[in-house]
Amino acid sequence: MSRIAVVGLGPVGLVTGVAFAEEGHKVAGIDVDARRVDAVRQGRPPFFEEGLRDAVQRVLENGRLAVTQDGSEAISEADFVFLCVGTPARPNGRMDDVYLRQAAEEVASGLPSHRAVVVIVKSTVVPGTTETILKPLLEASGRPFRLAVNPEFLREGHALEDALHPDRIVLGVDGPETAKALRWLYANAACPILETDLRTAEAIKYATNAFLATKVAFANELADLCSALGVSYDDVIEGVKLDPRVNPRFLVPGVGFGGSCFPKDVKALVAAVSAAGYAPPLLEAVLRQNEVQHERALALLKEELGDLRGKRVALLGLAFKGNTDDVRESRAVPLARALLEQGAAVVGYDPRAEANFRPLVPEAELVASVEEALQGADGCILQADWPQFSVLGAEDFLTHMKTPVVVDGRRILDPDKMRGVRFRRIGSP
Ligand code: UGA
Repeated sequence: MSRIAVVGLGPVGLVTGVAFAEEGHKVAGIDVDARRVDAVRQGRPPFFEEGLRDAVQRVLENGRLAVTQDGSEAISEADFVFLCVGTPARPNGRMDDVYLRQAAEEVASGLPSHRAVVVIVKSTVVPGTTETILKPLLEASGRPFRLAVNPEFLREGHALEDALHPDRIVLGVDGPETAKALRWLYANAACPILETDLRTAEAIKYATNAFLATKVAFANELADLCSALGVSYDDVIEGVKLDPRVNPRFLVPGVGFGGSCFPKDVKALVAAVSAAGYAPPLLEAVLRQNEVQHERALALLKEELGDLRGKRVALLGLAFKGNTDDVRESRAVPLARALLEQGAAVVGYDPRAEANFRPLVPEAELVASVEEALQGADGCILQADWPQFSVLGAEDFLTHMKTPVVVDGRRILDPDKMRGVRFRRIGSP
């Protein structure tokens, strides 16, 4: 059993802390936000993540998780301190390190003088940040410490499962003692563990997200190529995936990637290397394409409906993907705004993201069920891959809609079940 302090109780920090607590460690969760601390203390995570609420309540009850606004005591007693604060994008795309600096100062003031705590960066940070920003702030304390970078690879919606059963662990370390301590902490993990230096571990996180975002962008472009060539994306990609060098996942074309990671991380990477004098043409193109990818869904809708003025359009799925209430960079936002600009009325529905979406597009009408959204609609765009949407069939659309025009922006509906529906998908002729 180790004593672990986790600074930052957002999606990464809370899930990481709860996972360590579930594994038997004693965890202190620290956050500057009093409302967040109160909510967690009462067993109510401030965001939705499958299985998290039950797990939080379990580890609060058995005493393995405590949460606090003042982390000084927890940090002074900890063996490991994980930094899990947000690293949002500035308006110019560059990573904002303000929360990281604050967290580092808090950690520095709490470090004990007689032993070296291992301070681990889990926040996604531009390569070099740990050495050039964090290290000097901790050194200013005059206390001993060890430093590591251990990027998170959690998928929202499956984050707790990913934290408990990782498929890989990357440990960027400042020396063999730190590596030994972290290998001990992760002794039960049944997955490959890669040891690197600090900067390489930071870069691995960005490179992974940049690759996956590029893969999605490639799928989106291939879908357009298929439409232009008069062939089906499904048939083409089925053949492409037979090549053992092509991993079949993350090749679903749609309205573009959203979320708190792909857009932000690719932008931060582009901005960081651009500042160093190198403009990466491929990643710049990925970002440009993603900015306008949602317009493909609008174009398909207009091919069926013509002018959108006065039309009622159901928008199914407001979160950036299914199984989450996270609306950060959700493609539902530009979609809804574009529909409204073109004179349509937008009726949105999401199983969990309604409250988060409402302030972003206040002009949209939000309703409490799929049926209500479809009622009297001239068209429907499916934006997020919620499992409950994938079972919708022709009857659902034909019963409620005024004109059954459906654009599947995530390719989750079965075209064979759409008889009688004017059904369109990005990448189909
Ligand atoms: C992503 C990565 O998948 C995680 O491995 C990583 O840890 C995380 O970012 C992070 O950096 O924290 P997440 O943002 O939860 O996870 O979501 P994804 O499932 O990767 O989806 C991202 C976006 O790409 C969504 O809008 C999704 O709809 C879209 N997408 C994904 C596609 O359009 N097509 C696909 O084939 C896959």
